[in-house]
Amino acid sequence: MASATRTTPDTLPAWQTLKHHAEALRHVHLKNLFGDDDSRWVNFTRQVAGLTLDLSKQRWDDDTLEHLLALAHEAGMPAAIDALLSGKRVNVSENRPALHTALRLPADASLEVEGEDVVASVHDSLAQMECLVQRLQAGQWRGATGKPIRHVVNLGVGGSDLGPLMVTHALADYRPKGRHPLEVHFASTMDGSQLADYLSRFNPETTLFVLSSKSFTTIDTLSNANTAKDWLLGKLSAHGDLPTAAPLSAELIVRQHFIGVSASPEKMSEWGITSDHQLMFWDWVGGRYSLWGTIGLPIALVVGMDNFRELLAGAHAMDCHFRDAPMEDNLPVLLGLAGIWNVNFLDIRAHSILPYDGRLEYFAAYLEQLEMESNGKSVTRQGQAVNYSTCPVLWGQLGPNAQHAFYQLLHQGTQPVVCDFIAPLKRYDEVEDPDTRRHLKVQHRLALANCFAQSRVLMLGDDALDDEGPRPEHKRYRGNQPSTTVLLDKLTPFTLGALIALYEHKVFVQAVIWDINPFDQWGVELGKKIATDTQAIIDGEGDISRMDASSRGLIGAFWASEQE
Ligand code: F6P
Repeated sequence: MASATRTTPDTLPAWQTLKHHAEALRHVHLKNLFGDDDSRWVNFTRQVAGLTLDLSKQRWDDDTLEHLLALAHEAGMPAAIDALLSGKRVNVSENRPALHTALRLPADASLEVEGEDVVASVHDSLAQMECLVQRLQAGQWRGATGKPIRHVVNLGVGGSDLGPLMVTHALADYRPKGRHPLEVHFASTMDGSQLADYLSRFNPETTLFVLSSKSFTTIDTLSNANTAKDWLLGKLSAHGDLPTAAPLSAELIVRQHFIGVSASPEKMSEWGITSDHQLMFWDWVGGRYSLWGTIGLPIALVVGMDNFRELLAGAHAMDCHFRDAPMEDNLPVLLGLAGIWNVNFLDIRAHSILPYDGRLEYFAAYLEQLEMESNGKSVTRQGQAVNYSTCPVLWGQLGPNAQHAFYQLLHQGTQPVVCDFIAPLKRYDEVEDPDTRRHLKVQHRLALANCFAQSRVLMLGDDALDDEGPRPEHKRYRGNQPSTTVLLDKLTPFTLGALIALYEHKVFVQAVIWDINPFDQWGVELGKKIATDTQAIIDGEGDISRMDASSRGLIGAFWASEQE
């Protein structure tokens, strides 16, 4: 990363050049940038690892890109990338490396971090995970009463939930066929709603919980875990139909129905998880970057270890590209710079993520954490307040559904928004029944047509229409909304790995330019502390009179509801 003495980005020469350049370009409509220029597709599109990145519909030209690349150089991008990938302590506020890329290094690689080769430990932990996966997938893991496990519920939140949740949905087609029917579920919310549903439907004898928590202190996860433990103990220790008359011990029940995944083995043991059912990872893996290791257990349970390794291989391919490709051809660098251009020079601070593939249902939610928890910062790495914008507001959902929800604002609202369209080129080839395949392929073509049409209308506005007749104001489309399109040759474990790594590195590129630390999340801490204090007050153990009128009113309403 940039040196401790670096000047702020807005004082770098290229930043100043970009400011002037933006003044000139700000009033040029995207449709005029295209004009008859057929070279934009070639100039602004790059391909790697089964992905095509089309940046031609950004509101920029060749000069813009040249100045942005100069900015990246002035900000020390090549050295920063090297520092990240070689395990330097890039997470300055926590004084440690951010080595999620080490989790996807092949077994024959080596990476020495502070005197220790981490690759062997990474592959040992994968081998341990593989053992558990094989037992569960083969139906060999038995619950306390001797029945094979049928339902696995991941209890985790944030990075210990969103990554595995997103990937298991995206790769559901890759479930190995004809094996023991194992179903994987997710419960994250501290209010217990998701868990309560599972507890009402599942048989405790055949249900196993994975407690996923890097810190093993997160109240959301621990409260779900404690409820699950009580449920199991309540249901199984009273179990009366055993072949042996001996009652089941709490120790046996917890042993057979919980796996822990954490960076804190002591805390897992304290909670009761037996050491051979503990999967470890390291404090140098950030929560939102952790799906690549043991936190990815639910993914491996759904798609199998071979596909999990393909996911890692795709991400590793993107890591190699990020390390080796010149900046002008480097997908994460280009995607990151497009964001810098929009946020800092065109004042576009809303960013929508729009996949046109139902399997990517949770991709926007995943990116919301990845981008906003990483780069939602307002102090530099040296602790000075920034005087420029950092992470935009990011949101999204499946594009086809969003067309009938918030696209109205994209087309005719007052906010400038940049959109990322994501779609696979190939789909449904593996559907066996020819009629169904034909129908589904028609639907895929329909989705692609909509995806391409929307980015075109956002760009051109009214000019996308052939008819030139006069239109009333309420039917006018202004266009000029920039977008990026990411095409996957096909959605596979490999291309999905590459896609996620692309966004991870994009986030890093932007953090380097903004001179912020993308690997901490101190902004989440105060909320946790105040929630603990508030809980004490709700439970009648604190002084409510010190609170503001609104908080007193809300707590009062809750207390009143308890009297009814
Ligand atoms: O909400 C903050 C956060 O620390 C995230 O960064 C993290 O992914 C999540 O909580 C869960 O943390 P843990 O895995 O330690 O339970």
